Amino acid sequence: MFQLSSPILSNECLHGAYHRLTIDLGELAQAARPGQFVQVQIPQLEGHILRRPFSICDVDGTVMTLVYKTVGVGTAALADVRPGTALDILGPLGHGFAELPDDRPCVLLGGGYGCAAMLFCAHWAVAHGKPAPLVLLGARSQADILLEEDFRHLGCQVGISTDDGSYGMPGRITVLLQSALKRQPNAWMAACGPKPMLKAVANLAEQFPDSACQVSLDEIMCCGVGACFGCVIKCKALDTPQGWCYKRSCADGPVFNGSEIDWDG
Ligand SMILES: Cc1cc2nc3c(=O)[nH]c(=O)nc-3n(C[C@H](O)[C@H](O)[C@H](O)COP(=O)(O)OP(=O)(O)OC[C@H]3O[C@@H](n4cnc5c(N)ncnc54)[C@H](O)[C@@H]3O)c2cc1C
Ligand code: FES
Repeated sequence: MFQLSSPILSNECLHGAYHRLTIDLGELAQAARPGQFVQVQIPQLEGHILRRPFSICDVDGTVMTLVYKTVGVGTAALADVRPGTALDILGPLGHGFAELPDDRPCVLLGGGYGCAAMLFCAHWAVAHGKPAPLVLLGARSQADILLEEDFRHLGCQVGISTDDGSYGMPGRITVLLQSALKRQPNAWMAACGPKPMLKAVANLAEQFPDSACQVSLDEIMCCGVGACFGCVIKCKALDTPQGWCYKRSCADGPVFNGSEIDWDG
């Protein structure tokens, strides 16, 4: 884990509330693995708010890309930060996704800004000589579909669904996933997005016993390094008297096996 302060290279609006930020982070960027995240200190708000966590969206050499949606005070302030301003970043944090296997089909699922973590996964796989995975992107509306061209550029086949039918297949991402699993029931899946989506993906994966499913949770975090227990989630633990335990989303995750989470806990 590193703590670095480095000037922002670019910070541009992708569309609507979505922004893409690049920053040269040297050894921090080189140590990053798909599924990990960084904690960003928002300039001018150091005394007011905690660091904010963002998935690592991509790494090219020592340059890290983050993609973020403005939802509140921290991300709104981040969107106003000009290139050249120094950003204090802690990372890489958490446990990322397992390596994509060579011997089975891989499906990456991104819901909303959850596709940020998936781009690094796809890029990593292709850069390490693996076939470009199938990518499924789901969102409420066309305006919330991100990075489609970046995935296609890597050679990925991309399936899209929107809840309101404004782009791609109308409906939920799990409809696309069900078709993929019927064709390839031993698929290895990695998913990042809102919790209800991850729960639906994990439940669907359980119907295909030869499949494997990892999910990356975006729980609200405080310290981000395992010290405060502010981000715990309930997990199944058959070796405990009560049959469950709490795990820290930041330090034990954010990536978990879909089957280990108590989704109703
Ligand atoms: C591991 C991890 C990876 C993440 N990756 C990304 C990413 O790649 N891109 C991105 O845009 N966002 C990502 N997030 C969510 C991001 O951290 C929050 O949107 C951000 O902290 C909100 O800060 P704020 O000050 O703008 O909002 P606040 O003013 O703190 O809150 C505004 C609203 O956002 C909600 N919110 C705050 N934190 C979260 C959270 N963690 N998840 C969901 N809702 C939240 C609040 O409940 C509130 O409704 C990630 C979160 C985690 C834990
Ligand atoms: S945010 Fe502090 S333990 Fe996870």
